[in-house]
Amino acid sequence: MKRRFGSHATVMRLLGPSDRDTLLDFFKSHTRETIHLRYGYELSHLTEARAAELVGVDQSKDAAIGIFETGEPVPLVAIGRYCLKPDNRSAEVAFVVREDRRRLGIATALLSALLSIAASRGLETLDAQVLRENQPMLEIFFGLGGVKSAIPGTDSVTVTIDIRKALHNLGRRKSR
Ligand SMILES: CC(C)(COP(=O)(O)OP(=O)(O)OC[C@H]1O[C@@H](n2cnc3c(N)ncnc32)[C@H](O)[C@@H]1OP(=O)(O)O)[C@@H](O)C(=O)NCCC(=O)NCCS
Repeated sequence: MKRRFGSHATVMRLLGPSDRDTLLDFFKSHTRETIHLRYGYELSHLTEARAAELVGVDQSKDAAIGIFETGEPVPLVAIGRYCLKPDNRSAEVAFVVREDRRRLGIATALLSALLSIAASRGLETLDAQVLRENQPMLEIFFGLGGVKSAIPGTDSVTVTIDIRKALHNLGRRKSR
């Protein structure tokens, strides 16, 4: 699907096994701060095997979406994914957007796409483990009705979004 974010023409599509090396390059481009906020810990290296797993998820169960720009040294500029939980009713989401492509609505578009996929599969909630300091991510979730709960003994919180309500809120925003 073609989308514009600011002045950037992009394509949003599901990730697949052939994206492994692009994902490795994307990871190498992350600042330490981005890695800290995304993973919650220091991760200096992504192995080829882990990258292959991340792009090769079973897209009928989980979801992994990339945003690509042609003409960039690393064409992948953002990823949104969810991983189905064992209860089959909820999934855990995570995002990363390239540092110079933030505040353009990219994470919101990815979340919107993930919400639609999750709803079509009958899921009820999406949640994310977010560092307390990660105001941008918290803002996005709270803006769609997310509710936070503490994870005892950690610097993170779980934010849970009701999928139906979040899609309703997104629909109201678009119609304004
Ligand atoms: C969090 C992250 C994914 C947001 O991506 P993004 O594409 O910039 O987000 P959006 O443009 O869709 O932002 C939507 C809204 O979130 C809020 N927001 C986003 N970034 C913000 C910031 N730096 N400060 C305050 N609010 C912010 C705003 O309300 C924004 O709407 P607005 O721009 O109309 O005011 C991105 O900052 C990122 O990759 N961070 C590092 C990795 C990470 O934290 N991942 C999350 C782990 S689950």
